[in-house]
Amino acid sequence: MAIPKNVLVTGGTGFIGSHTVIKLIESGYDVTILDNLSNSNLDVLNKIFLITSIAPSFVSGDVRDKLLLRDIFSKNDFEAVIHFAGLKSVSDSVSNPLEYFDNNVGGSVVLLQEMKFSKVRKLIFSSSATVYGRASCMPISEDYVLSPTNPYGRSKLIVENILEDLYESDPSWKIGILRYFNPVGAHCSGLIGENYLGAPSNLFPIIGQVIQGLRDRLYVYGGDYTTSDGTGVRDYIHVDDLANGHISALSKFEDHSGLLKINLGTGCGYSVLEVINTYQNVSGTKVPYEIVGRRPGDVAECYANPAKARELLDWVAVHDINSMCADAYRWHVNMKKSRIT
Ligand code: WQD
Repeated sequence: MAIPKNVLVTGGTGFIGSHTVIKLIESGYDVTILDNLSNSNLDVLNKIFLITSIAPSFVSGDVRDKLLLRDIFSKNDFEAVIHFAGLKSVSDSVSNPLEYFDNNVGGSVVLLQEMKFSKVRKLIFSSSATVYGRASCMPISEDYVLSPTNPYGRSKLIVENILEDLYESDPSWKIGILRYFNPVGAHCSGLIGENYLGAPSNLFPIIGQVIQGLRDRLYVYGGDYTTSDGTGVRDYIHVDDLANGHISALSKFEDHSGLLKINLGTGCGYSVLEVINTYQNVSGTKVPYEIVGRRPGDVAECYANPAKARELLDWVAVHDINSMCADAYRWHVNMKKSRIT
């Protein structure tokens, strides 16, 4: 019986982190979660147990806490780290840039220092398509120019550059940089999904708030873009597909070192109106909406060229937009029930 490989997941009670923890457990890994619960809650651990019958080890704390990290690494023989912990709101990053650089960059540096100290040199890093900035030609490949337009995107690109310099200094590192497009959906059980503290700004959580009666309508930002129906087009990817992409990236570095930057997207773009129509069709529920002016900073369209992930990770997204909307709807309804009870 092979000894299960132990993986540290920072931010493992968050949206993408929790779904990845479930896939790791289902793939036979032992998992230790480090999370400061700044954008999640302990109940996610109970849900992970309900889904997998396994309770991952959990350490409550911040990835910037050097002494805590030294202690965690001294007590575990990690094979790899998947680093999700960080702040992720574009709008919030504009008003609180120092918070974003301290958390996302500072936290990553402390983590990498402790990984180096403990000789754990395999990292999967949660990056974002926001590093591409206002891309104008679609689909976006990994060699597209990197020009983030907000502190959140810049914090992700700075960490990517740090990882490149680290690999340059020691090519024994195994580094997977995964650039997510628009993560949506929820686990098919409806037990976990995208939670948020405070007011969300992304499309799917806001549709969820309309369904839960917290908003009377969805405001569609812009109906005059040069797209099929004038509304913004994005590459929505199911969070379970995203989670599987992390498992594939871990396997890729089983037996050789390297640094890879890979887009995780479907390669398909859907407009806001197409999302609304799909969500209404799969849920049988109306989503009242009103088309208003464009949101500053938005681009007309953004979707991935997923070829590199297919070739290098043998990974493709399998969930279509119907599945994304159906799983999101189930989660939205359960959120409403848990708030009412
Ligand atoms: C999607 C589409 C909006 C809300 C963000 C950030 C970043 C990244 C991915 C982490 C756009 C439209 C939205 C609303 C709307 N995550 N919209 N009404 O801006 O593409 O990317 O998510 O890295 O958080 O870059 O996602 O969900 O905000 O917008 O019409 O109330 O929905 O204009 O066309 P975005 P989004």
